[in-house]
Amino acid sequence: MKKGALTYECTGCGHGTGTWLGCCPACGSFDTLEPLPQRIRRGKRVEYRKVVELAEACLDEPGRRSCDMPAVDRVLGGGLVPGSLVLLAGEPGIGKSTLLLQIALRTARADAPVLVVSAEESQAQVSLRARRLGTPGPGALLLAESCVEKAVHGIRDARPHLVVVDSVQAMVSERIPAVPGSVSQVREVATQFAELAKQNGPSVVLVGHVTKDGSVAGPKSLEHLVDVVLEFAGGTTHPHRTLRATKNRFGPAMELALLAMTGKGLEEVANPSAALLADRLVAPGSAVAAVVEGTTPLLVEVQALVARSSLINPRRVSQGMESGRLALLLAVLEKHLGVRLGDRDVFLNVAGGLDVDEPALDLAAAAAILSSLREIPLPEDLVLFGEIGLLAEIRAVPRAAERMREAEALGFRRCALPATSPRNGPDGVSPVPLATVADLAALLGV
Ligand code: TYD
Ligand code: MG
Repeated sequence: MKKGALTYECTGCGHGTGTWLGCCPACGSFDTLEPLPQRIRRGKRVEYRKVVELAEACLDEPGRRSCDMPAVDRVLGGGLVPGSLVLLAGEPGIGKSTLLLQIALRTARADAPVLVVSAEESQAQVSLRARRLGTPGPGALLLAESCVEKAVHGIRDARPHLVVVDSVQAMVSERIPAVPGSVSQVREVATQFAELAKQNGPSVVLVGHVTKDGSVAGPKSLEHLVDVVLEFAGGTTHPHRTLRATKNRFGPAMELALLAMTGKGLEEVANPSAALLADRLVAPGSAVAAVVEGTTPLLVEVQALVARSSLINPRRVSQGMESGRLALLLAVLEKHLGVRLGDRDVFLNVAGGLDVDEPALDLAAAAAILSSLREIPLPEDLVLFGEIGLLAEIRAVPRAAERMREAEALGFRRCALPATSPRNGPDGVSPVPLATVADLAALLGV
């Protein structure tokens, strides 16, 4: 063997070594070094494509294939690009298999088949689910197989337009000895499907399970390998599910679709803002924020509960907003408004099970906290958006006019926004410019 050639790789950190070791020298994990596949090891002569001028290689935008679910097409940037590899990641039980089977049933045609490769569920289980979702028509094909090499042969024979692989962790390659679901197996499986997609042109969607804490054996290590990463999230006890493109080589990232799980599969929520505000109660601790997900403005209810604490370290619980952000807001309110929160438990929740990353949520979160603390409800017709800085200033966020238009469409009449934001919104909503959190406190009368 050539000196220095890497033949083993750590499944934890990807460190390569020439010999097998019980403990990875880079990350210190035990029993994680696995042999690399043969074809990666031996550099044999490879055929490569002709080098071309980039200007000549620029082709027309490839014809995209619709998923027959407009919200999903929007998240993808206009549909599935032929030959692309998509990863659909989400927690077990969230509805990944259901969503993809639904797309398979809706888009399959006799002359454009869709093949579901099921490594997790048997033929009987998949067909039972398919019957629940609709009547399978011609071209909706199923292959219950967990060996990737055999599946690839099956796919080449069936010539489908779309392949769904459920799931990437349950597939195994015969080329490497690692156990199913390990990082090297998952990567090998994904690489083989990537090759298939690029050579033969079907779009391939890989299902990847992730766990709650994000510690994933697999999907995270695939993100660089695939063209699109879709994240499917939401509580399994709640019907709402969100589908987001966190990476998209063919369209805008962070675009969001709101879907609802029903007895007959997933349905698009036609008016997400209205659905998210449906259970809203105008009471102390409730505020409405105008956020933007991707390019879509969305109104969400932020709820806060500030209560006297019996603990030495009061509780700070945040759902739907990053907990570090909540800590920052509380510190700003304490320092700049002089409110005492040190002996209070603070709970914050974005109603509807949505995770909002956008700092534009800050203003509504601060308003909800102040409203709960002082037990004063916010005006019913008020929407808020704006980022709160460390110096208590309210900072501008993009797309102010679109947020105001969404507020108007949902019947709101006033919009509290950063003083530096443009106020070219619709006539039906009056802007209430705020420069600092002191202005917010004055507006709320707290
Ligand atoms: P599933 O697609 O199996 O989740 P995943 O593949 O992400 O693990 O969906 C699981 C849940 O969805 C399960 O609890 C049953 C529920 N479900 C419905 O509520 N309605 C339906 O029509 C279907 C098919 C499933
Ligand atoms: Mg599944």
